[in-house]
Amino acid sequence: RARAAIDTHVRLVDDFPSPGIAFKDLTPVLADPEGLAAVVSAMAHYCAGADYIAGIDARGFLLGGAIARELNIGVIAVRKGGKLPPPVIGVDYELEYGSARLEVPATGLALAGTQVAIVDDVLATGGTLAAAARLFTEAGAHVQGLAVIMELAGLGGRAALAGGLGIAVPVHNLCDG
Ligand code: PRP
Repeated sequence: RARAAIDTHVRLVDDFPSPGIAFKDLTPVLADPEGLAAVVSAMAHYCAGADYIAGIDARGFLLGGAIARELNIGVIAVRKGGKLPPPVIGVDYELEYGSARLEVPATGLALAGTQVAIVDDVLATGGTLAAAARLFTEAGAHVQGLAVIMELAGLGGRAALAGGLGIAVPVHNLCDG
């Protein structure tokens, strides 16, 4: 059902972000009521058993809250660096050009010993999800799985995650891009 909704509503953009690349915009999938329901329900299936859903800035927020409600658990926003007041737990990671940082509050969340499922819209190089998984692991949580709508398989993100994390975290995707 999720796959059919994605195929129906995904917007294809030729030659973006560079010539020869066919970009798949998921915005219309989530804007469609049945598309949103199907995607959230399928991702929630993979996240069952978690204590928290962690949604990554920014489109992971859309999914995280909805999935958490479906499972009747709480949601944590994983923010880009510099958005949260101190104290924070943060991890820096490398991008193709420069670096980036993800943060969650260091107080007010009882993360130690909990099961966290991390969600985002797209898995590309894997750098973002790897950083988020490292963040929750450093906070004492167990990352039970990673779930995305779309995996850009050609970028090797899944392999990078396995290598970079050094731990076996299941990675679930609803479609390929
Ligand atoms: C996109 C996407 C993921 C990330 C995946 O976010 O939403 O979070 O890139 O890329 P990676 O697997 O190579 O790390 P983006 O960096 O565009 O940020 P945004 O959500 O704030 O637009």
